[in-house]
Amino acid sequence: MQCRRRRTVVLVTLFCGLSGVCYSLLAEADEAPATKPAAQYTADGKLKRPADHRKWMYIGTPITPNDLNDGDAAFPEFHAVYIDPDSFAHFAKTGEFRDGTVLVKELISVGSKEAPSGKGYFMGDMHGLDVAVKDSKRFKDEPGAWAYFNFSHKLPLKDESTKSAAVSCNKCHEDNAAKDWVFMQYYPVLRDANPRAK
Ligand code: HEC
Repeated sequence: MQCRRRRTVVLVTLFCGLSGVCYSLLAEADEAPATKPAAQYTADGKLKRPADHRKWMYIGTPITPNDLNDGDAAFPEFHAVYIDPDSFAHFAKTGEFRDGTVLVKELISVGSKEAPSGKGYFMGDMHGLDVAVKDSKRFKDEPGAWAYFNFSHKLPLKDESTKSAAVSCNKCHEDNAAKDWVFMQYYPVLRDANPRAK
């Protein structure tokens, strides 16, 4: 994210007296650059795969290993989840997911079940990506104004994706997620940042 601020010279007119003479002051103001929305679309409305989500806020890693799911988990196996930084800041202030919120879920295989630290599940390689976007204008007809996108569950990932049908994604999120279609109950970073829980 670009943080550089441009300093702009602003002419502030303080007051114009009866004589018609105006007293002015040259002041410097901070002008924040407009940040690019985290969700970018092609001309025909497909979502572009976010390019820099690994620089976003990481919020948690649910894991559904294949060996606990009859060898074939629906979303194998680690799910490393990120939220775009401006929406995280908004959430930390308000406890709400704003319009424009983007959540990215990377799917990562189990690479090994043993490490010097003990037996367990240890990350292999990233092989899939899913994204959720909230936008009450663009997705006003989607339940909860959330749209869900699959960029493939095996490499190579797609560069753009058409939104999935609400019945394949939104319904389970709506019925089971702790907050506004988001499975906040599994994301310690969001729970701890939530001002409403403090
Ligand atoms: C049967 C229920 C179910 C269905 C159907 C489902 N999900 Fe999810 N989804 C979950 C659960 C549970 C989590 C959090 C825990 C996890 O990742 O295992 C989650 C998390 C996510 C996240 C991370 C952000 C969040 O909302 O918590 C994304 C992105 C996501 N799912 C995308 C999708 C997409 C895309 C589809 C449709 C192709 C889909 N999901 C269908 C249950 C579901």
